[in-house]
Amino acid sequence: MSWDTVRLEWDGDVATLTVDRPDALNALNIETLEAMGEALEEAAEEGARALVLTGAGDAFIAGADIKYMQDLSTAEGEAWGALGHDVADALEAFPAPTIAAINGYAFGGGCEMAMACDLRVAAESALIGNTEIDLGIIPGWGATQRLPRLVGDETARRMIFLGERLDAESAAEVGLVGEVVADDELEDVIDELATRLASKPAFAMQTAKQAINQTHEGSQESGIAYEKRAFASLFGTHDQREGMSAFVEDREPDFE
Ligand code: HXC
Repeated sequence: MSWDTVRLEWDGDVATLTVDRPDALNALNIETLEAMGEALEEAAEEGARALVLTGAGDAFIAGADIKYMQDLSTAEGEAWGALGHDVADALEAFPAPTIAAINGYAFGGGCEMAMACDLRVAAESALIGNTEIDLGIIPGWGATQRLPRLVGDETARRMIFLGERLDAESAAEVGLVGEVVADDELEDVIDELATRLASKPAFAMQTAKQAINQTHEGSQESGIAYEKRAFASLFGTHDQREGMSAFVEDREPDFE
Protein backbone atom coordinates (compact mmCIF):
# COMPACT_ATOMS: atom_id res chain seq x y z
CA MET A 1 0.00 0.00 0.00
CA SER A 2 1.12 3.58 -0.35
CA TRP A 3 0.16 6.63 1.62
CA ASP A 4 0.63 10.38 1.14
CA THR A 5 1.89 11.24 4.62
CA VAL A 6 3.45 7.98 5.81
CA ARG A 7 6.23 5.84 4.35
CA LEU A 8 6.95 2.21 5.14
CA GLU A 9 10.41 1.11 4.03
CA TRP A 10 12.33 -2.10 4.48
CA ASP A 11 15.95 -2.97 5.07
CA GLY A 12 15.97 -6.76 5.31
CA ASP A 13 13.66 -7.63 8.20
CA VAL A 14 13.68 -4.11 9.64
CA ALA A 15 10.71 -1.89 8.77
CA THR A 16 10.91 1.88 9.10
CA LEU A 17 7.69 3.84 9.44
CA THR A 18 8.30 7.51 8.67
CA VAL A 19 5.65 10.16 9.31
CA ASP A 20 6.08 12.36 6.26
CA ARG A 21 4.30 15.70 6.68
CA PRO A 22 7.34 17.92 7.07
CA ASP A 23 5.49 21.17 6.26
CA ALA A 24 3.48 20.67 9.46
CA LEU A 25 6.46 19.23 11.37
CA ASN A 26 4.78 15.82 10.98
CA ALA A 27 1.77 16.79 13.10
CA LEU A 28 -0.72 13.93 13.11
CA ASN A 29 -4.08 14.36 11.38
CA ILE A 30 -6.75 11.75 10.68
CA GLU A 31 -5.27 10.71 7.35
CA THR A 32 -1.82 10.24 8.90
CA LEU A 33 -3.10 8.29 11.88
CA GLU A 34 -5.15 5.99 9.65
CA ALA A 35 -2.14 5.46 7.40
CA MET A 36 0.06 4.69 10.42
CA GLY A 37 -2.44 2.06 11.54
CA GLU A 38 -2.46 0.47 8.10
CA ALA A 39 1.32 0.59 7.80
CA LEU A 40 1.74 -1.09 11.19
CA GLU A 41 -0.65 -3.84 10.13
CA GLU A 42 1.25 -4.33 6.88
CA ALA A 43 4.62 -4.40 8.65
CA ALA A 44 3.35 -7.00 11.12
CA GLU A 45 1.79 -9.15 8.38
CA GLU A 46 4.99 -9.07 6.37
CA GLY A 47 6.96 -10.29 9.35
CA ALA A 48 8.98 -7.28 10.47
CA ARG A 49 11.53 -8.37 13.10
CA ALA A 50 12.02 -4.78 14.29
CA LEU A 51 10.21 -1.54 13.52
CA VAL A 52 11.58 2.00 13.63
CA LEU A 53 9.23 5.00 13.99
CA THR A 54 10.63 8.35 12.89
CA GLY A 55 9.72 11.66 11.24
CA ALA A 56 10.67 13.20 7.90
CA GLY A 57 12.84 16.32 7.89
CA ASP A 58 13.86 17.97 11.14
CA ALA A 59 10.93 16.95 13.35
CA PHE A 60 9.92 13.62 14.87
CA ILE A 61 6.21 14.44 15.40
CA ALA A 62 5.24 17.92 16.67
CA GLY A 63 2.05 16.49 18.14
CA ALA A 64 -1.54 16.04 17.12
CA ASP A 65 -2.71 18.52 14.48
CA ILE A 66 -3.85 21.56 16.45
CA LYS A 67 -5.52 23.13 13.41
CA TYR A 68 -7.70 20.04 13.12
CA MET A 69 -8.45 19.87 16.85
CA GLN A 70 -9.26 23.55 17.24
CA ASP A 71 -13.05 23.33 16.80
CA LEU A 72 -13.77 19.74 17.83
CA SER A 73 -16.85 19.01 19.94
CA THR A 74 -16.68 16.65 22.93
CA ALA A 75 -17.95 13.75 20.78
CA GLU A 76 -15.43 14.52 18.04
CA GLY A 77 -12.67 14.84 20.63
CA GLU A 78 -13.62 11.40 21.92
CA ALA A 79 -13.39 9.82 18.44
CA TRP A 80 -10.14 11.65 17.78
CA GLY A 81 -8.67 10.46 21.06
CA ALA A 82 -9.69 6.88 20.28
CA LEU A 83 -8.07 6.96 16.83
CA GLY A 84 -4.68 7.98 18.24
CA HIS A 85 -4.98 5.44 21.06
CA ASP A 86 -5.53 2.71 18.47
CA VAL A 87 -2.23 3.62 16.81
CA ALA A 88 -0.38 3.85 20.14
CA ASP A 89 -1.86 0.49 21.17
CA ALA A 90 -0.84 -1.04 17.82
CA LEU A 91 2.72 0.14 18.43
CA GLU A 92 2.68 -1.25 21.96
CA ALA A 93 1.28 -4.59 20.80
CA PHE A 94 3.43 -4.78 17.64
CA PRO A 95 4.74 -8.35 17.44
CA ALA A 96 8.40 -7.26 17.24
CA PRO A 97 10.42 -4.61 19.08
CA THR A 98 9.78 -0.99 18.14
CA ILE A 99 12.22 1.90 18.39
CA ALA A 100 11.34 5.59 18.29
CA ALA A 101 14.15 7.39 16.46
CA ILE A 102 13.49 10.87 17.86
CA ASN A 103 15.13 13.09 15.28
CA GLY A 104 13.60 16.40 16.40
CA TYR A 105 10.48 17.83 18.06
CA ALA A 106 8.43 15.18 19.86
CA PHE A 107 5.62 17.07 21.54
CA GLY A 108 2.19 16.04 22.78
CA GLY A 109 0.93 13.18 20.65
CA GLY A 110 4.43 12.80 19.17
CA CYS A 111 5.87 12.17 22.60
CA GLU A 112 2.99 9.76 23.25
CA MET A 113 3.73 7.75 20.09
CA ALA A 114 7.39 7.57 21.16
CA MET A 115 6.31 6.35 24.60
CA ALA A 116 4.25 3.57 23.02
CA CYS A 117 7.44 2.21 21.42
CA ASP A 118 9.65 -0.26 23.27
CA LEU A 119 12.82 1.86 23.06
CA ARG A 120 13.58 5.54 22.45
CA VAL A 121 16.81 6.95 21.02
CA ALA A 122 17.00 10.74 20.64
CA ALA A 123 19.21 13.03 18.60
CA GLU A 124 20.91 15.52 20.91
CA SER A 125 19.04 18.49 19.40
CA ALA A 126 15.60 16.91 19.93
CA LEU A 127 13.05 18.51 22.26
CA ILE A 128 10.52 16.27 23.95
CA GLY A 129 7.48 16.78 26.14
CA ASN A 130 3.77 16.66 26.79
CA THR A 131 2.84 20.24 26.07
CA GLU A 132 -0.97 19.83 25.91
CA ILE A 133 -1.68 21.88 29.04
CA ASP A 134 -0.75 25.06 27.18
CA LEU A 135 -3.53 24.32 24.69
CA GLY A 136 -6.16 23.93 27.40
CA ILE A 137 -6.30 20.14 27.12
CA ILE A 138 -4.51 17.12 28.63
CA PRO A 139 -2.49 14.36 26.98
CA GLY A 140 -4.97 12.20 25.10
CA TRP A 141 -2.96 9.32 23.65
CA GLY A 142 -1.69 7.62 26.76
CA ALA A 143 0.81 9.92 28.49
CA THR A 144 -1.11 10.12 31.75
CA GLN A 145 -0.52 6.37 32.05
CA ARG A 146 2.73 5.70 30.19
CA LEU A 147 4.76 8.74 31.30
CA PRO A 148 4.56 8.06 35.07
CA ARG A 149 5.69 4.48 34.40
CA LEU A 150 8.72 5.67 32.50
CA VAL A 151 9.84 8.64 34.56
CA GLY A 152 8.09 8.19 37.91
CA ASP A 153 5.03 9.92 39.32
CA GLU A 154 6.59 13.19 40.50
CA THR A 155 8.50 13.88 37.29
CA ALA A 156 5.48 12.98 35.15
CA ARG A 157 3.28 15.37 37.10
CA ARG A 158 5.85 18.11 36.72
CA MET A 159 6.22 17.52 32.99
CA ILE A 160 2.48 17.33 32.28
CA PHE A 161 1.45 20.15 34.66
CA LEU A 162 4.10 22.53 33.32
CA GLY A 163 4.03 21.33 29.71
CA GLU A 164 7.82 21.06 29.94
CA ARG A 165 9.85 20.79 26.74
CA LEU A 166 12.92 18.78 27.74
CA ASP A 167 16.11 18.68 25.74
CA ALA A 168 17.33 15.20 24.87
CA GLU A 169 19.90 15.01 27.69
CA SER A 170 17.28 15.97 30.29
CA ALA A 171 14.86 13.46 28.78
CA ALA A 172 17.53 10.77 29.19
CA GLU A 173 18.22 11.86 32.78
CA VAL A 174 14.59 11.32 33.76
CA GLY A 175 14.34 8.03 31.84
CA LEU A 176 12.08 9.20 29.02
CA VAL A 177 14.66 8.22 26.40
CA GLY A 178 17.19 5.44 26.67
CA GLU A 179 20.02 6.96 24.68
CA VAL A 180 21.10 10.31 23.25
CA VAL A 181 23.38 10.46 20.22
CA ALA A 182 24.84 13.16 18.00
CA ASP A 183 22.35 14.29 15.36
CA ASP A 184 24.44 12.98 12.49
CA GLU A 185 24.87 9.59 14.19
CA LEU A 186 21.19 8.87 14.85
CA GLU A 187 20.59 6.95 11.64
CA ASP A 188 23.63 4.68 12.09
CA VAL A 189 22.89 4.02 15.75
CA ILE A 190 19.27 3.15 14.94
CA ASP A 191 20.32 0.90 12.04
CA GLU A 192 22.69 -1.01 14.26
CA LEU A 193 20.23 -1.36 17.14
CA ALA A 194 17.37 -2.42 14.86
CA THR A 195 19.57 -4.95 13.07
CA ARG A 196 20.69 -6.44 16.40
CA LEU A 197 17.11 -6.69 17.61
CA ALA A 198 15.99 -8.24 14.33
CA SER A 199 18.69 -10.91 14.60
CA LYS A 200 17.32 -12.30 17.88
CA PRO A 201 14.95 -15.28 17.92
CA ALA A 202 11.60 -13.85 16.84
CA PHE A 203 9.27 -15.94 18.98
CA ALA A 204 11.31 -15.46 22.16
CA MET A 205 11.48 -11.74 21.41
CA GLN A 206 7.74 -11.45 20.96
CA THR A 207 7.15 -13.48 24.12
CA ALA A 208 9.53 -11.29 26.13
CA LYS A 209 7.74 -8.18 24.89
CA GLN A 210 4.30 -9.56 25.73
CA ALA A 211 5.49 -10.58 29.18
CA ILE A 212 6.88 -7.12 29.90
CA ASN A 213 3.65 -5.55 28.59
CA GLN A 214 1.79 -7.58 31.22
CA THR A 215 3.30 -5.37 33.91
CA HIS A 216 0.84 -2.67 32.93
CA GLU A 217 -2.23 -4.66 31.96
CA GLY A 218 -5.39 -4.09 33.95
CA SER A 219 -4.52 -0.86 35.66
CA GLN A 220 -3.41 0.70 32.37
CA GLU A 221 -6.68 -0.29 30.71
CA SER A 222 -8.81 1.47 33.30
CA GLY A 223 -6.40 4.41 33.36
CA ILE A 224 -6.62 4.82 29.59
CA ALA A 225 -10.42 4.61 29.76
CA TYR A 226 -10.34 7.42 32.32
CA GLU A 227 -7.94 9.47 30.18
CA LYS A 228 -10.22 9.08 27.14
CA ARG A 229 -13.21 10.50 29.01
CA ALA A 230 -11.23 13.28 30.63
CA PHE A 231 -9.59 14.29 27.34
CA ALA A 232 -12.89 14.46 25.45
CA SER A 233 -14.51 16.50 28.22
CA LEU A 234 -12.11 19.39 27.58
CA PHE A 235 -13.26 20.01 24.00
CA GLY A 236 -15.59 22.97 23.75
CA THR A 237 -14.25 24.55 26.97
CA HIS A 238 -13.14 28.17 26.81
CA ASP A 239 -9.51 27.29 27.51
CA GLN A 240 -9.33 24.60 24.81
CA ARG A 241 -10.78 26.95 22.20
CA GLU A 242 -8.55 29.80 23.41
CA GLY A 243 -5.36 27.71 23.72
CA MET A 244 -5.64 26.29 20.22
CA SER A 245 -6.79 29.56 18.60
CA ALA A 246 -3.81 31.28 20.17
CA PHE A 247 -1.44 28.71 18.63
CA VAL A 248 -3.06 29.01 15.20
CA GLU A 249 -3.13 32.83 15.38
CA ASP A 250 0.41 32.93 16.74
CA ARG A 251 -0.37 34.88 19.93
CA GLU A 252 -0.30 34.31 23.70
CA PRO A 253 -3.42 32.55 25.08
CA ASP A 254 -5.73 34.32 27.53
CA PHE A 255 -6.93 31.48 29.77
CA GLU A 256 -9.91 31.76 32.12
C1 HXC B 1 -0.56 21.65 13.52
C2 HXC B 1 1.61 22.39 13.50
C3 HXC B 1 1.87 21.75 14.73
C4 HXC B 1 0.82 21.00 15.33
C5 HXC B 1 3.66 22.76 14.09
N1 HXC B 1 2.74 23.00 13.15
N2 HXC B 1 3.16 21.99 15.07
N3 HXC B 1 0.41 22.35 12.91
N4 HXC B 1 -0.37 20.99 14.68
N5 HXC B 1 0.98 20.30 16.44
C6 HXC B 1 2.88 23.78 11.92
C7 HXC B 1 2.91 25.27 12.21
O1 HXC B 1 1.59 25.79 12.35
C8 HXC B 1 3.58 25.78 10.95
O2 HXC B 1 2.65 25.75 9.88
C9 HXC B 1 4.61 24.68 10.65
O3 HXC B 1 4.14 23.51 11.32
C10 HXC B 1 5.98 25.03 11.21
O4 HXC B 1 5.82 25.30 12.58
P1 HXC B 1 6.40 26.66 13.26
O5 HXC B 1 5.67 26.85 14.53
O6 HXC B 1 6.41 27.77 12.29
O7 HXC B 1 7.91 26.19 13.53
P2 HXC B 1 8.87 26.65 14.71
O8 HXC B 1 8.79 28.11 14.93
O9 HXC B 1 10.17 26.01 14.37
O10 HXC B 1 8.28 25.97 16.03
C11 HXC B 1 8.22 24.59 16.10
C12 HXC B 1 7.40 24.15 17.35
C13 HXC B 1 6.01 24.81 17.27
C14 HXC B 1 8.14 24.61 18.61
C15 HXC B 1 7.31 22.64 17.31
O11 HXC B 1 5.46 24.59 15.96
C16 HXC B 1 5.05 24.27 18.28
O12 HXC B 1 5.10 24.64 19.46
N6 HXC B 1 4.13 23.41 17.85
C17 HXC B 1 3.08 22.89 18.70
C18 HXC B 1 3.63 21.81 19.55
C19 HXC B 1 2.55 21.24 20.47
O13 HXC B 1 2.02 21.93 21.33
N7 HXC B 1 2.22 19.96 20.26
C20 HXC B 1 1.19 19.31 21.03
C21 HXC B 1 -0.11 19.38 20.31
S1 HXC B 1 -1.44 18.74 21.31
P3 HXC B 1 2.51 26.97 8.86
O14 HXC B 1 1.36 26.56 8.01
O15 HXC B 1 2.29 28.19 9.68
O16 HXC B 1 3.83 26.97 8.15
C22 HXC B 1 -1.33 17.09 21.13
C23 HXC B 1 -2.46 16.33 21.76
C24 HXC B 1 -2.22 14.86 21.66
O17 HXC B 1 -0.45 16.59 20.55
C25 HXC B 1 -3.44 14.10 22.10
C26 HXC B 1 -4.55 14.19 21.13
C27 HXC B 1 -5.65 13.24 21.44
